[in-house]
Amino acid sequence: MDIGVIGVGRLGICFALLLDAGGHRVRASDIRTNYVAALNRREIVTTEPGVAERLREAKNITFTTDTREVLQNSSVVYVMVATPSAADGSYDISAVERVVQDVEESDFDISGKFLVIGCTTNPGDCQRIQDRLRDRGVHVLYNPEFIAQGSIIRDLQNADMVLIGGEDSDVMDCYKLVYNDIQVTTPNVHTMSLTAAEMVKIGANCFLTTKISYANMVGEVLIRSGLAEDVDKALTAIGQDSRIGHKYLRYGFGYGGPCLPRDNRAFAACAKKVGLDFPLGTIVDQFNRDHTQFLAEYFISINPNQRPYYMRAISYKPDTDIYEESQQLALAEHLLSKGYTVIVEPCAKMPAEIRQDLKDRYKTLVFAERKTIDDYIEIPV
Ligand SMILES: NC(=O)c1ccc[n+]([C@@H]2O[C@H](COP(=O)([O-])OP(=O)(O)OC[C@H]3O[C@@H](n4cnc5c(N)ncnc54)[C@H](O)[C@@H]3O)[C@@H](O)[C@H]2O)c1
Repeated sequence: MDIGVIGVGRLGICFALLLDAGGHRVRASDIRTNYVAALNRREIVTTEPGVAERLREAKNITFTTDTREVLQNSSVVYVMVATPSAADGSYDISAVERVVQDVEESDFDISGKFLVIGCTTNPGDCQRIQDRLRDRGVHVLYNPEFIAQGSIIRDLQNADMVLIGGEDSDVMDCYKLVYNDIQVTTPNVHTMSLTAAEMVKIGANCFLTTKISYANMVGEVLIRSGLAEDVDKALTAIGQDSRIGHKYLRYGFGYGGPCLPRDNRAFAACAKKVGLDFPLGTIVDQFNRDHTQFLAEYFISINPNQRPYYMRAISYKPDTDIYEESQQLALAEHLLSKGYTVIVEPCAKMPAEIRQDLKDRYKTLVFAERKTIDDYIEIPV
């Protein structure tokens, strides 16, 4: 099948490469000209496992800056452009709107094509898009991904759940077949209205932020009770209850990165739009930040001699180049601002501008390999 992917950033490139491997002819577009040229040379700079290799091996994929070319030549078109957070916590979908405008302005027959929104949108956005494109005969579907940075390809291939929002059950059934091609395991597929699916996407991540915060809260109570040694045992016992489960129930850093904090706030913004307060979301968000403060106080309390701290990574997840809302970075900054020395393993994946900015702001930040230092307190990441 001819499939298009519009927006081949962190998520879109992984998805496009899996479609290629699934035997489809893939046309992918992005607005970054140099990036597109590099992709066509089969070169990519990424920390995502498997992407560079798959790109080199890909047979049926081409990259372009021309959205129109993708729209015209594909039966199914995925939209995976960025949707940054707006000031009120909702998603700014202006990049999606630009694609929708391209569809509206297309001067070729576009009826019967599937426009699959894979980026995170606000509840109600996809229905509005469907209403705008109804006269053109385009079927709009919402099909977000539940994946983690650092394992995007593996997570896409082994989804627990595939979520499809749409207006027409026959269209959704037909679309399921395309999705099956990228799966290694057999996921449970859930179909529902566009708006309900948008709510499920952010609602699910909101539950995860709550669960992570709950584990950290239990950990804090035990630590303050002098039971630091028992934190892992306690949480393992709680997670053993199958109604609760072990996943995301570990004590450690608060959540960060480009998805969980934003989805948590977006769910609260969505509740507000329908006249409801969602205090849980707000409290979890605040707790997450307070927890980093708690961690800073804890690590200071076990360091009366002011030894340097060592952290293997300060990105939000080790081995990624993502520093957005990183609680590891926030902890390092708490300690640095109190005058402590923080030694961080030099990492080629850290963008040069972030490294320089941190070095300019904190004179006691040191980039050094662990093997070159002999006296430190390790903060596990
Ligand atoms: N990365 C993830 O792990 C992840 C997980 C779940 C959901 N999402 C969602 O997927 C979407 C994309 O996320 P991402 O992390 O890949 O973002 P990204 O910023 O890495 O990639 C977005 C890409 O879209 C391109 N783009 C922007 N406007 C465009 C246009 N009009 N036409 C073509 N290309 C355009 C950008 O140049 C960029 O390459 C977001 O809505 C995000 O919330 C991402």
